[in-house]
Amino acid sequence: MQEKKVEYDREKTNNVALLKWLDKMVEMCQPQSVRWCDGSKQEWKELTDLMVTQGSMIRLDKKKRPNSFLVRSDPQDVARVESRTFICSYGKDDAGATNNWQEPRKMRAKLKRLFKGCMEGRVMYVIPFCMGPLGSSLSQFGVQVTDSPYVVLNLQIMTRMGQAVLDQLGEKDFFVPCLHSVGFPLKDGVEDVPWPCDPENTHIVHFPEQRTIVSYGSGYGGNALLGKKCLALRIASCMARDNKWMAEHMLILGVESPDGEKTYVAGAFPSACGKTNMAMLIPPESMKGWKVSTVGDDIAWLKPDANGGLRAINPEAGFFGVAPGTSWETNPNAMESMRANTLFTNVALTSDGDVWWEGLTSQPPEGLTDWRGEEWSSESESPAAHPNARFTAPASQCPTIDPDWENPEGVPVSAFIFGGRRMSDIPLVYQSFNWNHGVYLGATLTSETTAAAEGALGNLRRDPMAMLPFCGYNMGDYFRHWIRMGKQLEEKPRIFHVNWFRKDESGKFLWPGFSENMRVLRWIVERSNGRGRAHENPLGWVPKKGDLDWSGLDFSDEQWEELMSIDSEKLRMQTLRHEELFLQLSEFLPKEMLFERELLVSRL
Ligand code: OXD
Ligand code: MN
Repeated sequence: MQEKKVEYDREKTNNVALLKWLDKMVEMCQPQSVRWCDGSKQEWKELTDLMVTQGSMIRLDKKKRPNSFLVRSDPQDVARVESRTFICSYGKDDAGATNNWQEPRKMRAKLKRLFKGCMEGRVMYVIPFCMGPLGSSLSQFGVQVTDSPYVVLNLQIMTRMGQAVLDQLGEKDFFVPCLHSVGFPLKDGVEDVPWPCDPENTHIVHFPEQRTIVSYGSGYGGNALLGKKCLALRIASCMARDNKWMAEHMLILGVESPDGEKTYVAGAFPSACGKTNMAMLIPPESMKGWKVSTVGDDIAWLKPDANGGLRAINPEAGFFGVAPGTSWETNPNAMESMRANTLFTNVALTSDGDVWWEGLTSQPPEGLTDWRGEEWSSESESPAAHPNARFTAPASQCPTIDPDWENPEGVPVSAFIFGGRRMSDIPLVYQSFNWNHGVYLGATLTSETTAAAEGALGNLRRDPMAMLPFCGYNMGDYFRHWIRMGKQLEEKPRIFHVNWFRKDESGKFLWPGFSENMRVLRWIVERSNGRGRAHENPLGWVPKKGDLDWSGLDFSDEQWEELMSIDSEKLRMQTLRHEELFLQLSEFLPKEMLFERELLVSRL
C-alpha cells in the first residue's frame, strides 16, 4: 500500500499530546480526510443529511418525531460483545479471572495489522468530548477518532463534545485517547454499505495502565460509543481505584419529600432489571407530595467531598435506552425524552414515518417495516424491533431531569441500592447492617437469567455490583477498593438490597413494581436519613408492613408476609454457593468478604 500524507487542521488545539497522537492515527488509518467535530447543529444537519443520502438513515416524520432518525444496523452487529472485549493490563492478574486478558504487546501487534489503512476512502472524525459537566473537577476528557458518522451523532447526544472541550483541554491536560473504526475500508473498488462493520474481527480493547481504548469492527452501542462503557466504566474504574473515587454502573435519582427534603440515591441493577424505568419513576398519585427526579440512568462517578460524604455526577448527557418494553404505561418520562431530536436504532418503522417496538402498544399497527427493513405483520415469526433496539435521547429532554443534574459539584448520595431479579427467595427489601455487609450484598449480587438471556430460564448469574462486564481490573481488588472507600468516608451512604421480581407459587409477581416501588424508596430514604423503623432478621434490617406507606394501595398482610418471607435453609445453601465466584477470585478476595459470608451463614 502506498502511504499518503493526509493533512489536517493543526490549529484547532495546542495540546501537544493530542496532535502527536492524531499524527500517528492518521498515518496508520490512512483516511481520505480528517474532520474536527464541533458538536454544532450544522454538523448534526450535515451528517444526518449525508447518512440519509447514503441510505444509512431514515428521516422520521417531521411532525410526529421532529429532527429524529432511524438507523438499521447489520444483523451481525446488534449488541455489545463481551467475548471480544479485552482488558490488556501488563499482568493477567491485574485484569483478573472475570475479564478477557491478552498480553498487551501481542494485542497491539494484532490491532496494528487491523488498523493499517482501515479508513481508506473514509472521513476520520475527531471528537473531543467530556464525560461529566464541563468545568467539573469530577469530569474527564476523551478524544475519539472514528470513521462512523453515526458515532459522531450519538456522541453529540451522549456527551458534551466539540470546540468547548478543546478550549478547556488546554495545552497539557490529560485526555483518554479512543481509537475506533468500523473496519470497512473503501479500497480496491469496494462499495460502501448502509452499516459497515467487520464482525469477525471485532475487538474492544482497553489498556488500563496507559488509559487508552481501541475498538475495531463494530459500530454498535457500547462497542463504538467509547465514552460510555469503555471510558466511563472500564477505564474510569481503574482511575477511581488509583485516585480514591468510584466509577459505578448505577443510576442516580433524587427523592423529594412533601416538606421539600431532598435525598439522592444511586442504584446498581444487572441488565434487563428496569434501571431506566427506576431512574424515571413516577410516584403513585396517592403518595401526595413525593417527587422523584432523574440525574442519570446508567453510570455514576462518585467522589468524597470535604465533609467526608460522597458526591455523584452522571458522566453522560443522554440516554442510550433499550426501546422494547418502553411505553407510556411503563415509562412516560422516557417517552417524553424521545419525542424529538432522537436517534432510533433497530426499531420498527410505521407506515406514517414513526417508530414502533414490542411493548409500545398492545396491538402492533398495520404496515410495519421491521428492524431488518422487511415487511412485518403480527404473523411474522421474529419481533418487529430487535430486542436490543435503542433510542439515543438528550437527558435534558427528560421531564423529571433533576435541577442539579449538571451541577459541577455533583449531588450528595445518601444510599446505594443493589437490585437483582430473583423469582423465589429474596425479600422485597432489606438494609445491610453496616458498610462491609453492604459491600458483601453488592459483591454477591445475583440475577436469574430471563428467557432472552443466555442460559436456561431461572439460572442464577452472579453480577457483582452489576459490574461484571464493566470492571477494568481484578474483581477482588475492586471489592477491596469498596471496603477502603468505606474507611475513608465519614458519612457513608446506607446500603440496601431490593428485589422487585419475586413470584408466588403460581408464577404471579407478588409485587406490582413500577410506581409502587416508590413505597420502598420512601422507606430507604427515611432509613438513610436516620428515621424509619426497621427490624433485624438474618439478612439485614427489614421493614414490617406498617413501616411502609400504603396510601392508596390495597396489599394484604398475607401478600406482605409472602413477599418478605425467608427460607433460612434454602438461603443457607445459596450462600454456600457464593463460593463459586469467591473461588474464582481466589487469593484476591478480601478476607472481609469471607467473614461476611461466615456471619450470614451463622445468622441463617
Ligand atoms: C447497557 C448495559 O446497555 O448495561 O447499559 O448493557
Ligand atoms: Mn448499563
